[in-house]
Amino acid sequence: MSDLFLTGIGHLTTNTGGPIIGAAVRITEGRIVYAGPEGDAPKSDSADHIECGGRAVIPGFVDSHTHLVFAGDRAAEFARRLEGASYAELAASGGGILSTVEATRSASEDDLYEAAAARVRRMIASGTTTLEIKSGYGLDVETEIRLLQVGRRVGDEMPVTVKTTFLGAHAIPPEYRGERAGYLQLLMEEMLPAVAPYADYCDVFVEEGAFSVDEARQVFSAAAAHGLEARVHAEQLTHSGGARLAAEIGAVSADHLDHATAEDAVALAEAGVVAVLVPGASYTLRAPQAPGRMLSEQGVGIALATDCNPGTSYFESMGLVISLAVVEMGLGVDQAVHAATRGGALALGLEDYGLIAPGAVGDVIILDAPDPAHIPYRPATNLVWKTIKAGRVAAGQT
Ligand code: NIG
Ligand code: FE
Repeated sequence: MSDLFLTGIGHLTTNTGGPIIGAAVRITEGRIVYAGPEGDAPKSDSADHIECGGRAVIPGFVDSHTHLVFAGDRAAEFARRLEGASYAELAASGGGILSTVEATRSASEDDLYEAAAARVRRMIASGTTTLEIKSGYGLDVETEIRLLQVGRRVGDEMPVTVKTTFLGAHAIPPEYRGERAGYLQLLMEEMLPAVAPYADYCDVFVEEGAFSVDEARQVFSAAAAHGLEARVHAEQLTHSGGARLAAEIGAVSADHLDHATAEDAVALAEAGVVAVLVPGASYTLRAPQAPGRMLSEQGVGIALATDCNPGTSYFESMGLVISLAVVEMGLGVDQAVHAATRGGALALGLEDYGLIAPGAVGDVIILDAPDPAHIPYRPATNLVWKTIKAGRVAAGQT
């Protein structure tokens, strides 16, 4: 039986109310059984004990949007963009997503797993305890299945909870160039039934040069018939209507939203769609940040995620994402920490994650700092002292 007792917590962020100063947390059999003032904690001699020495404790990070299963890298493309080429130009000339598709198709399942696992190990060491992982670099039946299986294997073999998302509608693959209808038919009639056992969600990249709102509506309707709920890449590079579609179909999340308007925000709030914001992508593309404050003021629930991918956001650290959200997007520190924990959990339908309260899953981070404000304040330092997954130490300093 696992039983872990944390004492000497200087600042405890529970996401159920204000911080508790001078706290203790007990996690028994993977679930939190006590979170509150240290003086009121039930005593026990049987639990493993960590004295936190005044450090801050927050829920584990929930990274609700990643594309972390891929082969190769695009550092050369990054350099070309710095010299002036745009993301859309590189994609239109066969680079971008399609160059990662080429590398990924020729990688074995084990190679893809090892590359993904190396990224996930670093993420866990940086405090991530739950991850969403998308496919989308296969774009054929066999490789899309392989990517989703690798995503599921990460969740089975590593100390992290994983949800997987089918993103076959990421780009038109080269063998279907000029034959969009043929690719969409393959996607809906062959890919969806084949990938559905390995996926929790379906995503579509709604964008000029990718997929239109009408195409996405058809894909989401076919996906729903296979039990896959919708997440939408919306308003990333241009305003293309993805957010309004997400609201119309009751998607779980609308992601990116760099070009979202106040009208989009009202529609998302009314439909209860979570906004998953990925400031690492906007930073890497030197694009304006999503209007996080406006979305929040209109009542939209906010999550923060890395968008980890080789093209627009090779970010693995949620701490750095929080820093960008605070400094560049204008979110408050507490708001950003909530969005990176509880917000992400709600974006993945994980009601008992992202909280430090009795009954919640025992995923917590001990920071090597007295207050969570140090996360954005010291952006290039990994402030995670220990990552605890379901009551067991998954990474960190001893
Ligand atoms: O979230 N926008 C679409 N997909 C990714 C980028 C994928 C890539 O460039 O490889 C994103 O930014
Ligand atoms: Fe993305």
